[in-house]
Amino acid sequence: MPALLAWSLAWLCFEVLKTLGLPEWVAMVAATFLGGALTTLVHTRMRRALVVLGFPLSMLASSSSFAMPSIGWLLLLGLIVLIYPRKAWRDAPLFPTPKKALQELPEHIALGGGARILDAGSGLGDGLIALRAAYPRADLNGLEMSWPLRIVSALRCSFARIRQGDIWLADWRSYDMVYMFQRPESMPRAVEKAEAELRRGAWLVSLEFEARELVPNAVVHGKDGRPVWMYQLPFKRVAERAL
Ligand SMILES: C[S@@+](CC[C@H](N)C(=O)[O-])C[C@H]1O[C@@H](n2cnc3c(N)ncnc32)[C@H](O)[C@@H]1O
Repeated sequence: MPALLAWSLAWLCFEVLKTLGLPEWVAMVAATFLGGALTTLVHTRMRRALVVLGFPLSMLASSSSFAMPSIGWLLLLGLIVLIYPRKAWRDAPLFPTPKKALQELPEHIALGGGARILDAGSGLGDGLIALRAAYPRADLNGLEMSWPLRIVSALRCSFARIRQGDIWLADWRSYDMVYMFQRPESMPRAVEKAEAELRRGAWLVSLEFEARELVPNAVVHGKDGRPVWMYQLPFKRVAERAL
């Protein structure tokens, strides 16, 4: 909703400035700046980028120099839905875990050889690659909603077992660690599921997004500044910390 609001306001600003007689390029720059100012409506870097790029990209797509037949738009939409299926819209689309983001995990979480790790929403396999660098002897598993991503990630990560499926319907009980890189909104559901299914001593690890209701056992910041949040079962609630 904040993105739609920002894009609409940028377009409104563009049209108003043009109506007032300003040259098109001035109206365009001003509207893009407005989009930039409205990035304060959202809180993650990726969302800020979407907010600021929405107006110039939609302008490019609607310009006459970018003529695409309507079947082209339909095919593009089909491709997007195939890569990012409707069922996954409540969670994150495809953003990969940076290569070295998880290299400090073993300093905080010791896992024996053969420990079972699940990358919940494994995308193109970058999370699994980073997990393998951190835990080379672990039994690595991926679960991904999108068929095309599942196929490509299986080709990239022959060392892991990757299945197509829904992370919320899967059984997490056999895992020693569930790793996620989803959305802030996914975290309460992940906490609830981990608490219901993971055994005592197992871990829920989240790149970038905090489980706000929990006290983390540890948090590290990767080279790109993204935090990695670590929570061990049984979870400690924020309210308990306050007592
Ligand atoms: C931000 S990407 C992270 C990819 C990978 N874990 C990594 O860190 O490189 C999130 C992935 O989760 C997948 N996803 C979102 N919701 C899902 C769900 N309910 N079940 C399975 N996969 C899901 C998306 O398709 C996307 O590939």
